[in-house]
Amino acid sequence: MELLDKLNWRYAAKAMNGEKVSEEKIAKIIEAARLAPTSSGLQPFEIIIIKNKAIKEAIKPVAWNQSVITDCSHLLVFAAWDTYTEERINKMFDLTNEVRGFKNEGWEAYRQMLLGSYPQKDAEENFNHAAKQAYISFSAAIIAAAYEGVDTTPLEGFDADAVDKILELREKGLRSAVMLPIGYRNTDKDWLVNLTKVRKSTEDLVTVIE
Ligand SMILES: Cc1cc2nc3c(=O)[nH]c(=O)nc-3n(C[C@H](O)[C@H](O)[C@H](O)COP(=O)(O)O)c2cc1C
Repeated sequence: MELLDKLNWRYAAKAMNGEKVSEEKIAKIIEAARLAPTSSGLQPFEIIIIKNKAIKEAIKPVAWNQSVITDCSHLLVFAAWDTYTEERINKMFDLTNEVRGFKNEGWEAYRQMLLGSYPQKDAEENFNHAAKQAYISFSAAIIAAAYEGVDTTPLEGFDADAVDKILELREKGLRSAVMLPIGYRNTDKDWLVNLTKVRKSTEDLVTVIE
């Protein structure tokens, strides 16, 4: 199947059947999320993978009681940095130098530029920027899951503060941005499964400037 066929097959599952997704497929989905591009390569977020039934049950009521929270196989929480700090920025730049095995003057100047800007900004603004990067990774995970024939429900219908408390994210300098239940669709219980996908036309979406 072509990637576009798989993207047409995917939809935001409203009901899942509780079937487990293999760890092999989950690893591929996570790898796609890890490989996603981010601004300055900072990857300013972490992904929490929840398999634990009790934690899923604790999250469900603060996520509009959406059944996919508990009926999914793995629940991903994309948690963004609560702000950019010198330490966090340096860690990623140092990692780049370590992996590539050399220091680059241009790259070091870029590091200094970021150090002179992000940490001084308002934490809320930084969190919002970090959350945008988390969404790119989240999107890669959705596409990778579809490629693997696995269903997902992109999900931002939840009380972020409550999820942060349940997962003790604030203590780790993180804030929940978006969630992704991963599992298999329950075709008998899902009102959306057979409905035609609705998207605006390419003409309405795209402006070509020759
Ligand atoms: C960031 C984001 C958040 C969403 N939050 C929810 C949600 O909380 N609950 C839900 O049922 N669907 C949620 N959706 C699913 C969208 O409603 C759905 O993707 C959209 O209507 C397009 O339909 P399709 O994905 O089935 O093609 C969300 C989608 C995105 C991208």
